[in-house]
Amino acid sequence: MDVMETIMKRRSIRAFLDKKVPATELENIAKAGLMAPSASNMQPWNFVFVTNAAKRLAIGKGFQKFISQAPLIIVGTVDKKVNESWNVVDCAIALQNIVLYCTSVNLGTCWVGAFDKERTRKICNIPDSHKVIALIVVGYADPAFPTSNFFRKDLDEAAFLDEWDKPLTGEH
Ligand SMILES: Cc1cc2nc3c(=O)[nH]c(=O)nc-3n(C[C@H](O)[C@H](O)[C@H](O)COP(=O)(O)O)c2cc1C
Repeated sequence: MDVMETIMKRRSIRAFLDKKVPATELENIAKAGLMAPSASNMQPWNFVFVTNAAKRLAIGKGFQKFISQAPLIIVGTVDKKVNESWNVVDCAIALQNIVLYCTSVNLGTCWVGAFDKERTRKICNIPDSHKVIALIVVGYADPAFPTSNFFRKDLDEAAFLDEWDKPLTGEH
């Protein structure tokens, strides 16, 4: 799958089959994250791959049901002391690398920001020196649940050529 195809194919998946992510993929997923660019190559991130069912249930409890249903929850964290200006951006880039890699091997994903970061820290024994940024839930999409929210801004509303409000598309 080429990159554009992968980008166009990715949707947020919020219903998963009861099927594990193959153990062989865990390392590939992690490598996709680690190969992300980061400011001054400081790589402020650590990722906790949560497959344990009790931990997944505890992380998702009281939030959207699909969070615990996913067979893999990846907790993205950064070292609070490493490059404070950019560490959140760096982590987000790495997590999106993970998302795109997963898409390319037909694993469904969803970014999750609505969860309890402090509870997740405790469940995963994440040290106070590190900030919990976001979750990526991963699994095989349940085809019975269609994806939603296909809305995107028009190109000319979002992207300009040379100066603000000058359309990118059309004849130049
Ligand atoms: C930082 C971030 C946090 C998000 N948090 C949630 C969330 O807590 N729950 C959820 O269902 N989707 C969440 N999403 C997914 C967005 O709702 C989704 O990307 C958006 O609606 C576009 O849909 P698509 O991903 O299918 O293209 C989040 C996405 C991002 C980037």
